[in-house]
Amino acid sequence: MPINKRVLLAKRPVGEPGDECFTIEEVEVGEPGDNEILIKVCWLSLDPYMRGRMNDTKSYVEPLQIGDVMTGESTGIVMQSNSNKWQVGDRIAAHLGWQSYIVVDGDDARLMKVDLNNGSLSAHLGVVGMPGRTAYFGLQEVGKPEAGETLVVAAASGAVGSAVGQIAKILGLRTVGIAGGAEKCRYVKEELQFDDCLDYKSGNLAEKLATACPDGIDIYFENVGGDVTRAVAPLLNTGARVPICGYISNYNDEDISKAETPFHILEKLETVPEHRFFVVYEWQDRYEEATIQLGEWVKDGRLKYRECFGEGLDNAPELFRGLLKGKNFGKQLVRIADKEA
Ligand SMILES: NC(=O)c1ccc[n+]([C@@H]2O[C@H](COP(=O)([O-])OP(=O)(O)OC[C@H]3O[C@@H](n4cnc5c(N)ncnc54)[C@H](OP(=O)(O)O)[C@@H]3O)[C@@H](O)[C@H]2O)c1
Repeated sequence: MPINKRVLLAKRPVGEPGDECFTIEEVEVGEPGDNEILIKVCWLSLDPYMRGRMNDTKSYVEPLQIGDVMTGESTGIVMQSNSNKWQVGDRIAAHLGWQSYIVVDGDDARLMKVDLNNGSLSAHLGVVGMPGRTAYFGLQEVGKPEAGETLVVAAASGAVGSAVGQIAKILGLRTVGIAGGAEKCRYVKEELQFDDCLDYKSGNLAEKLATACPDGIDIYFENVGGDVTRAVAPLLNTGARVPICGYISNYNDEDISKAETPFHILEKLETVPEHRFFVVYEWQDRYEEATIQLGEWVKDGRLKYRECFGEGLDNAPELFRGLLKGKNFGKQLVRIADKEA
């Protein structure tokens, strides 16, 4: 049987998660038992929410415990199957953590079929996977977009932000991105065809936003929080909506409970916009609809995406630290297996 390399939470981080927060170990994978399958992982997704799970605070899910496998979604191939649901060779997505081989019950709710007609194995962790669905539902169900409105989204070159802006364009909105650095901004404007993209690292964001949004802002899709939200807030129109997807600028805070969150910033405004935190799981029963639609937009060229590849579980902690400070350019993935078959 193959050896499973896996990454465990060794210590809760204070601030940025250093190498001491992770243990990498190798264990033998057992033979799959009754109704179980063996998965070879090809791609692991690194996502900002993982940082919150490392803290000892309850959010919408329980935190990781010390010694747990780091949480995460991966895609791979079914190598052995004792389940009627799965055939050898099936492509599969599994929310079962940072590991290279997985033995699991074939009926486990954390498994999803991957249909390569909708996109590649890696794309099922990005544009047609969880981040794409987050953009699809968060924008449409919480943002309630209408053609002609102005939308602003930060982390605009990233997995969620790039899809939010392009879907908004498909729906007929004026779309302004915010991203870190000239190269990311060029990509967002020229390749993703946003109407504008502003570099928040080069200063004067409030003035640049006022110029880029002459009719104010109707939807601010919140990905980052902090100074970016403080610059956006005064420009929100009466009737504006703010889907709060995340606020990554605070994730490495030593004590996130002391942060000025987007809720604090928005609730101080004279006219408080409609806003709420949402989790993509709210629309779990509609995942297939989203995956198919996102896949069609990718195929017809209206939804472009960029992937940022790292190599191997040994490098996953460093890649994860990079994601939390914008080193990634596009969806951050880790290649686990050399070949997909
Ligand atoms: N609610 C949900 O269900 C759900 C699901 C998925 C994701 N999310 C949230 O969506 C957001 C984006 O996630 P993603 O997976 O698409 O990540 P991503 O955008 O692919 O990567 C993270 C990006 O955040 C930006 N960033 C990092 N530190 C920052 C800082 N201090 N200030 C401003 N920007 C910073 C960086 O872009 P720049 O270099 O451009 O700054 C970085 O590339 C996160 O807040 C995440 O937690 C929520």
